[in-house]
Amino acid sequence: MLSIRNLEKSFGSLKALNNVSLEVEADSIVGLIGPNGSGKTTLFNVVSGFYEKDAGEIYFKGDRIDGLPPNKIAQKGLCRTFQVSKAPEKLTVLENMLLAARHQQGENPFSALFLRSRVKESENANLKRALELLDTLLLKDLRNAYAGDLSGGQKKLLSLGRVFMLKPDMILLDEPTAGVNPTLVVQLIEAIKRLKEMERRSFFIIEHSMKVISSICDKVYVLNFGQKIAEGTPEEIQQNEQVLEAYLTGA
Ligand SMILES: Nc1ncnc2c1ncn2[C@@H]1O[C@H](COP(=O)(O)OP(=O)(O)O)[C@@H](O)[C@H]1O
Ligand SMILES: [Mg+2]
Repeated sequence: MLSIRNLEKSFGSLKALNNVSLEVEADSIVGLIGPNGSGKTTLFNVVSGFYEKDAGEIYFKGDRIDGLPPNKIAQKGLCRTFQVSKAPEKLTVLENMLLAARHQQGENPFSALFLRSRVKESENANLKRALELLDTLLLKDLRNAYAGDLSGGQKKLLSLGRVFMLKPDMILLDEPTAGVNPTLVVQLIEAIKRLKEMERRSFFIIEHSMKVISSICDKVYVLNFGQKIAEGTPEEIQQNEQVLEAYLTGA
């Protein structure tokens, strides 16, 4: 579904991505790990169109996507969340979900807000989907709470919900469990599993916790200093000498 070939990206003299090639199959959960500064977020930024690559090719569902702007890539069904989620804090959880969908339909989100009371057919469909997703994410009881009042972990669940409103084929998640308390980490993992089962979406996840990786990923890629140093199942990766060494000696 996603194929990255010989990707290169430098910042000045720093090679953040050095000849990286990898694949994410349809209907799978793939992990991306590596020490701090190894190029993981840069890879997501290039794939999602936020940074320009220096060299290499990126294909999504068979089409070349490198060079396309972020909104075009998202429209093709490849969506992302950010390391720091930024849901509008003064809107409720449910409003945030609906706003995500409206945004996708190319409407001006601000005019949409002023027309809150205007109910359209697409809005009924969106409302139904929003409530189903909030149920899956165990956020339904919080639907009328302000996003700004949620805990860090609940905000991450909400950002997952917001991106799912767009019905993406593949979701890039950058450290979804960072700063999330252990109870919510379990909730987040379960939510990702349920979303995958319900809707057959693919996930590509940057994650520090090997426990999280082992419990959800079919396959893992490892970056170190911008280079791919290993790939395999979570079990294989945990026993890989080069990987262990990178983590011991790395940043
Ligand atoms: N916009 C940028 N400008 C300059 N250097 C950057 C930029 N983004 C990332 N880098 C550098 O590229 C390297 C990889 O960063 P990053 O992809 O954020 O690593 P990771 O997500 O694996 O921790 C780091 O050395 C970082 O300082
Ligand atoms: Mg990062």
